[in-house]
Amino acid sequence: MEQQEFWNKKFSRDGYLYGKKPNTFIESCAGNFKKAHRFLCLGEGEGRNAIYFAKRGFEVAAIDASDIALKKLETFAKEEETYVKTRCVDLNEWIPKKKYGSIIASYLHMYKKDREALFEKIDSCLKEGGFFIGEFFSVNQLNYESGGPKDIDLLYTVDDFENFFPNCRKHKVEEVEIELDEGKGHRGKASVIRVIIQKN
Ligand SMILES: C[S@@+](CC[C@H](N)C(=O)[O-])C[C@H]1O[C@@H](n2cnc3c(N)ncnc32)[C@H](O)[C@@H]1O
Repeated sequence: MEQQEFWNKKFSRDGYLYGKKPNTFIESCAGNFKKAHRFLCLGEGEGRNAIYFAKRGFEVAAIDASDIALKKLETFAKEEETYVKTRCVDLNEWIPKKKYGSIIASYLHMYKKDREALFEKIDSCLKEGGFFIGEFFSVNQLNYESGGPKDIDLLYTVDDFENFFPNCRKHKVEEVEIELDEGKGHRGKASVIRVIIQKN
């Protein structure tokens, strides 16, 4: 897996790179998610979002390319007396087999060339009325030192989302400047794209 070696190295250090608290934007959107439906976290890393929602009664699954991150997620879940189903797979190879009412992603750095295929998979496995919600570094993050890749092909524009998801309503696709406070990995002023997308 192309991404596994890179991310395993990052997650091999002690501690939780992006902290243990959920991403604040995704947390603020919690009212859109229904507990009756499966909840999926893409590129979930060490589990801060997954565990937050699992503790609140959601049936949560987390996918990531890093087996080391997912082991840390499992330890964290045990400490919190909750459960998240984990799957170690590269999202380029992932074939969704279930339907989900909620899909989230925070700071999933997919290459531009791979996004269309991933977005089609998200669209195909979202239930009618279900939400895809996420926060991603924008191309303008190159001006900041608060985290994220320096390769423009891993950064997003509003159009990256506007041009896809034909079967969905885009409630929010916006670029905003925020102050990040997420562990050691994300800290300081940042430029992000926030999306709230709902399947018709
Ligand atoms: C910046 S970290 C964010 C982790 C987590 N979402 C968070 O916000 O704490 C990016 C995560 O995406 C995962 N990732 C990147 N590319 C991936 C791919 N192609 N398939 C699966 N996971 C991937 C990495 O392993 C890593 O855990």
